[in-house]
Amino acid sequence: TATQQFRIVVFGNDLVPPTLPVSLLGYSDGRVPLPRHFSQNAGGGAGSAIAADNTPATNAITDAGATLGRVLFYDRRLSRNDRVSCASCHQQQFAFSDTARLSRGFAGALTARHSMGLTNARFYTGGRFFWDERAASLEDQVLQPIQDATEMGLTLDDLQTKLSLTTYYPALFEAAFGSREITSDRVSRALAQFVRALVSVDAKIDRAFGPNGVPNFPGTFTAQELLGQQLYTGRAGCARCHGTTAHISDVTHNTGLDATVTDAGAGNGRFKAPSLRNVEVRAPYMHDGRFATLEQVVDFYDRGVQNNPGLDPRLRAGPGPNAPPLRLNLTREERDALVAFLKTFTDRTFLTDARLASPFAR
Ligand code: HEC
Ligand code: HEC
Repeated sequence: TATQQFRIVVFGNDLVPPTLPVSLLGYSDGRVPLPRHFSQNAGGGAGSAIAADNTPATNAITDAGATLGRVLFYDRRLSRNDRVSCASCHQQQFAFSDTARLSRGFAGALTARHSMGLTNARFYTGGRFFWDERAASLEDQVLQPIQDATEMGLTLDDLQTKLSLTTYYPALFEAAFGSREITSDRVSRALAQFVRALVSVDAKIDRAFGPNGVPNFPGTFTAQELLGQQLYTGRAGCARCHGTTAHISDVTHNTGLDATVTDAGAGNGRFKAPSLRNVEVRAPYMHDGRFATLEQVVDFYDRGVQNNPGLDPRLRAGPGPNAPPLRLNLTREERDALVAFLKTFTDRTFLTDARLASPFAR
């Protein structure tokens, strides 16, 4: 005649607590300042990354906040059956993306699109997230995979209950936010801080910039990389959409992957592109992971762009909506040079940085 409901939490028996250093690692701009070529306009038409910073005034990165975010990012307790963490689909060695075309969620089901690389997610002017920009901010975005029926499958209520039952979260929340209270709003802010801390500044291309932010490409690159750099910013037109010194995109575009759009994305087949930094290590490419290599991507832009009503004007051969798709007609040597240039974006420091790695020992 009477019922009582209560939740029973049984943690997976292979879980361990995180191991963190006694003194906080640095994530804030104070501890790890952005280099000049990110923090101011470097000149040469590249534009600066900082102008596209989407950090809200209410959620600047702090060392304790990003530390909590790091633990949350790697914690499998954020999924319904303790099987997946954010890092299952966003792996550091692959620039926080996944090698599978589609990723597997907590119960083994596949995601609808390819996992996005998270390098330099901090810099995107519109501040919207996902391939189709459906999240209005990063703070909004980070709570969605947790609740997604395929990805992590947890309600925010259950999330709070689970985190409260651990030995380590109350102290981490206190360090980050001043009290031991665990709320989904705080989870969202801490995760967003950690994702914004995933800034890559130590690739070969970064070494082309002096302390004053001025680039010396001829002094840094091989002849092949230099040719690639010139094509990227010049005739091949890549920088028109993948711009600034962080190689981020500006807005969503329809790039003519198909003549008939099957996934409307942000509308009319338009998609956001992640920063091209570390692109070498995060194949496969595009929102559906259709290309297995950078060579295939470059071949696509060279001669594979398909006409469709929403095709971006920058990828048409002439003015007006009836102009055919652009054909770059690059030589073999030029296509190889573009790929070589994209590989100067690979940042081994970032891909192995202990600050960004899992705090859960295996
Ligand atoms: C099961 C795999 C999976 C898990 C788990 C997962 N993600 Fe993702 N993530 C994806 C996929 C797939 C996309 C692209 C989905 C889309 O755009 O429709 C994505 C997109 C994103 C983006 C958008 C990046 C951008 O530039 O717009 C962010 C940020 C992100 N994930 C962070 C996280 C965080 C934080 C967690 C943990 C709370 C997480 N993800 C858990 C697969 C996953
Ligand atoms: C009109 C704007 C535009 C131009 C010009 C452009 N791109 Fe893109 N690029 C995009 C968009 C948008 C995406 C994401 C498309 C998708 O997934 O549907 C993308 C995706 C990519 C990707 C895959 C990224 C990933 O994480 O999967 C690579 C690599 C790339 N572009 C390289 C280039 C190169 C090299 C050039 C020059 C030859 C170029 N782009 C020119 C807009 C553009």
